[in-house]
This record gives sequence, C-alpha cells and structure tokens, in this order.
Amino acid sequence: MILISNIKKLVQVEKNSVKWVAGANMDKLDTIDNAFLLLRNEIIEDFGKMSELSKKYSKNQLKEYKVIDAKGKMVFPSFADSHTHLVYAGSREIEYVDKIKGLSYEEIAKRGGGILNSAKLLAETSEEELYNQSLPRINEIIGLGTGAVEIKSGYGLSTESELKMLRVIRRLKENTDIEIKSNFLGAHSIPAEYRGNQQKYVDLVINEMMPQVAAENLADYVDVFCDKGFFTVDETDKILNAATKYGLRPKIHANELDYSGGIQVGVKHNALSVDHLEFVGDAEIDSLLSSETMPTVLPGAAFFLNMVYSPVRKMIDAGLPVALASDFNPGSSPSGNMKLIMSMGCINYKMTPNEVINATTINTAYAMGLQDKLGSIARGKLANVYITKKIPSIEFMPYAYGSDLIEKVILRGEEVD
Ligand code: NIG
Ligand code: FE
Repeated sequence: MILISNIKKLVQVEKNSVKWVAGANMDKLDTIDNAFLLLRNEIIEDFGKMSELSKKYSKNQLKEYKVIDAKGKMVFPSFADSHTHLVYAGSREIEYVDKIKGLSYEEIAKRGGGILNSAKLLAETSEEELYNQSLPRINEIIGLGTGAVEIKSGYGLSTESELKMLRVIRRLKENTDIEIKSNFLGAHSIPAEYRGNQQKYVDLVINEMMPQVAAENLADYVDVFCDKGFFTVDETDKILNAATKYGLRPKIHANELDYSGGIQVGVKHNALSVDHLEFVGDAEIDSLLSSETMPTVLPGAAFFLNMVYSPVRKMIDAGLPVALASDFNPGSSPSGNMKLIMSMGCINYKMTPNEVINATTINTAYAMGLQDKLGSIARGKLANVYITKKIPSIEFMPYAYGSDLIEKVILRGEEVD
C-alpha cells in the first residue's frame, strides 16, 4: 500500500473512460498539479489534489500506506509496448554492419540473413537458455518504464521451435510482474526449405502449428507478416480465417515494405492492430476509419532501417487513433526504450508530446486488449506507474531524448528495485 504525495504533475488521468484517443483528441492530456496517488494492493485506489487528501482521509487511515514524497517529480502510467519480438536467441550486429555498408533489409533477408538467421540461432538454443536470454530484456524494459508488453513468436518457423518460443513467453508471464500478451507469428518468414513452395509452409502454419498453439493455449493473438517478399494477402486471409476458428484475434505486420493490402485484410478480419504502416494512402486510411483496428507505428524500426516514415500526421488529421510501439527485436529495432520511441514520434513524425504520450499508453493498451486495465491513471486500474526524476515539464520527457529520467518504477502496486 503506497501513497505518493506532493506529485508535481500526475499525468494521463482518466476523466471519462475511453477505449482509445483519436484525431484532435490525441493532443489532449488530462493532468493534476500538486497531486496524490493512493495504491492499494495491485490497484490504483484514488488520486486527486494534495489539498483534498487530508479532507478525504484521516491520519489513521493513511497510517497503513508507505509514503513516497514526489516533490518536483511527475507520475505517469507505465508504457504499454504493444509490439515486440523480445524473445530471441543471440543478436545480429553483423547485419547492422552490412546495412551500414549499403545492403537493404530485403537484400539481407534474400541472402538467408535477417529473420532466417535468428531462426537458425533459435533452433540451436534450448528453451532454458532462451528463457535466460529473454528475462534480462524484460527486466531492462521494466526499468525503462514499461508495464505491459506484447511478445511475438516468429523466430521458430518450425512447429517445435515456435512452441519453444511461446512456452518461454508463458514462463515470462508466470515469473514476472509486467503484464504480458503473447502473439503467435508462425508466418513471419518463409524457411529456406519451403522457398518455391510457400503454400506448403502456409499449410504447416494452419494445419500443424496453430492447432498445437491453441491446444496448449499458448497465444492471445495471431500475427502474419503480410508484405512484399513475405506473405501475400491471399495467404494472410487463409491464416486469419483459420485463426478465427481458434478464437485468435489478429494483430498483424502490414505495409512496411509496400502498399501490400495488409491493412485491408487486417481490417477485414477485425485485427486488433495493424503495425508498421510505412505505406499508407487514402484507401488504407478509409479502411481504418471504419474499423476497430489500432494503426500502430514502429518508429524504432523505421529509424534503424532508414525507411520512409509512416504518414502519421495525415492519419491523425484524418481522425484516426495512432499507437507507437518499440518493435524490440534483433534485426530491425534492437531497443525496447519507449521513452526514446516518444522522442522519435516527436522528431520524425511531428507528433506533439501529448500525442506521443497517448500513443504509448492508452492507445497501445487498447492494441493489447488492456485498455480497461492499464494505459491511464484511473481508479480500479492496475497500479503500474513510474515516478520521474525532478523535471521541469511534461515536454521535457521526449525532449531530453538520451537522458534516463525514470527514478522509480511501480508494478502491481509494488516498488521495483
Ligand atoms: O517487425 N517486419 C518484420 N519483422 C520484424 C523484423 C524482425 C527481424 O528482422 O528480425 C519487424 O521489424
Ligand atoms: Fe515486428
């Protein structure tokens, strides 16, 4: 039981319950100056102005709370990172050097590098070792203020290895305090032995992998990399049809490399999110406007791969919600630092600080099906918050892009050391 007192600014407080924020509302953020926050067990119990605290609660009632004085500091709801691949084996800095020397992401992939390189490493790594490599990444992002994360499979690309990845994700769910959602991404790339017979691999995903994933209840969502050189719209359609039978809602990779039709096929299947979105035109925006699908942009991947930037301003100005996630993975975004993602949102996509805060909290919480539980400071929501160091303003958070400004993390109402 914690009372955080004298908070300079309590950020992203919920006035009315919303599932996401869209369009012009993305630039609005509710805050309380000189505030208190009460955490009871795992839950946000109450919050308000400091001046109300002693009127609402007697000294005796407050005795049972540990007091943290946050004078000069701000409190934010934890980041929700709705798109990562943080369970992986090894790392791929050699490809990073290849990229510096001029090879493109697609050229590296064609040579058997990229995702297939990670798949080879993962096949050679035991489940125990994979868990041991992944746990420090979870602890790292917790320290960076993330309180919920989605993790994908997709470096397995065989039934055995896909199950291995998903079991590691399950173990991470069981053994850590961060909220985790698991996404089955068997259709991440086409293994070399299926080149020329891609349909056979799609059949394997549908007929062998998916039934086992469902039988062991290993996934919350299903993903497909629907893009040029990876899976076609028809193949994606088939995989998502099968997923419906198992009650797995899609959250898919789309339109990173081309106008792939990925957004439209995602919307057709009521995807919870479509992610990447470098190639978005009027048809894609129209399709998203009449949907329940969260457009999710991954600034880290576009930055790391030097790609064109998604037309985020156009999407927001058209009235869409936008979420920003890290894409933490060894090939295209080896960082899960959501504060840095906010800075990239501001600098590269011309989003305002208020917009990037909404895009990394309530909108990403929606993109994980967690908007009722996380993503804002609201009574009854999970007590996953962070306390900043002393900072002058909200805008200072994305502005000071290289500084560690997070002083204390609280997950499920408990301080994390
Ligand atoms: O989200 N775009 C597809 N998949 C990953 C990249 C994975 C990798 O290169 O290892 C992504 O960027
Ligand atoms: Fe990804």
